[in-house]
Amino acid sequence: MDFKELAKEYGTPLYVYDFDYMTAQYNELKEAFRGRKSIIAYAVKANSNLSVIKHFAKMGSGADCVSIGEVRRAFLAGIPAYKIIFSGVGKSDAEIREAIERDILYINVESEAELGRVELIAKELNVAARISIRVNPNIDPKTHPYISTGLHDNKFGVDLDSAKRMYIKANNSQNLDPVGIHFHIGSQLTELQPIREAAEIVADLVRSLDAIDIELKFFDVGGGLGIKYDNETLIQPYDYAQAILGTLTGLDMTILCEPGRFLTANAGYFVTKVLYEKQNGSKKFVVVDGAMNDLLRPSLYNAYHEIEALTENKDDLREVDIVGPVCESGDFFAKDYALPPLNHNDLLVIKSAGAYGFGMGSNYNTRGRSAEVAVENGKARLIRRRENFDDLIALETKYLED
Ligand code: LLP
Repeated sequence: MDFKELAKEYGTPLYVYDFDYMTAQYNELKEAFRGRKSIIAYAVKANSNLSVIKHFAKMGSGADCVSIGEVRRAFLAGIPAYKIIFSGVGKSDAEIREAIERDILYINVESEAELGRVELIAKELNVAARISIRVNPNIDPKTHPYISTGLHDNKFGVDLDSAKRMYIKANNSQNLDPVGIHFHIGSQLTELQPIREAAEIVADLVRSLDAIDIELKFFDVGGGLGIKYDNETLIQPYDYAQAILGTLTGLDMTILCEPGRFLTANAGYFVTKVLYEKQNGSKKFVVVDGAMNDLLRPSLYNAYHEIEALTENKDDLREVDIVGPVCESGDFFAKDYALPPLNHNDLLVIKSAGAYGFGMGSNYNTRGRSAEVAVENGKARLIRRRENFDDLIALETKYLED
């Protein structure tokens, strides 16, 4: 990847995505589930650029969406309705209505109250809404607490008893059609055991529902497969698939899997330019043109991202904090990171930035969002232009007179 050339052509800060890498990741996971019916439903939130979604659509991917905006993106990008699912704890009536009208594969319901709303809205529309229930198996996924979701302490899903009650209610309703069951215990998972345990618990529930003639078709295992940011030991997709399939003996279900990070994180690079070096006492800072509004993960989770300096001299390393221009001490990409001496306009490449990078960005400090570029078969193309000042104020200028 010729980052210098890309930076010259498109400017910095810049997101660059390796579409070939995304293809390889998708194929590896799909292959792992070979021999079983499966749908990989790309978790759109990881990187919701339309061209990224379209790239997965072309490979036959479905989409896991968490707002009606994401559902609309999935449709726009060419994902067929029958491969789109809609999850999330707080769907509004309008979102539920539109999802039902668009006839998506199913809505992942996260509470009894939500089930009631879905039933009511489906009744108004005179249809039976396809649903799946998100079960919270109370398993500790051993990941960062902010991205852990499968414990009762977390707001997600319902406990096993409630789930069973909800399935019975749904099965008896004219306006609900229970077709699936869902769990997602967390993100950036690097241990297989919690996933296996969760799958076992959920598969047992499926069996107990089967026994009372509630037959579900989709076993939705969520997303969460971890990736290498640093020196993590990873779960291999094959082992992941085997662990899940091993819990489904005797059940003829289609696997639905919602990976986000696994498909896009290591396809993405955030390219930023060195503005200044400065020293406060013994502390050395490298100030770059990208900031927390572009890539929030280090500030929010203290997340590690590998950083490479595109300099001739790769030696003479010193420890520096790499910081952006935003007026917050939390605006950093790394602390005490070993980098060679840098000059004005040298480039830094921040790795593993393809998931939860651009999408978690903001316009804080009236900073326009970066451009996004896709590279495929050695060819680069712009997939989102850089935001300019006019974009940032467009929704306010009309009201200036008041
Ligand atoms: N399915 C559900 C229901 C989810 O909540 C998530 C992620 C996924 C699938 C996709 O998970 P993945 O395969 O990408 O791990 N902003 C955080 C990650 C938040 C994840 C939220 N849910 C980060 O930057 O690490």
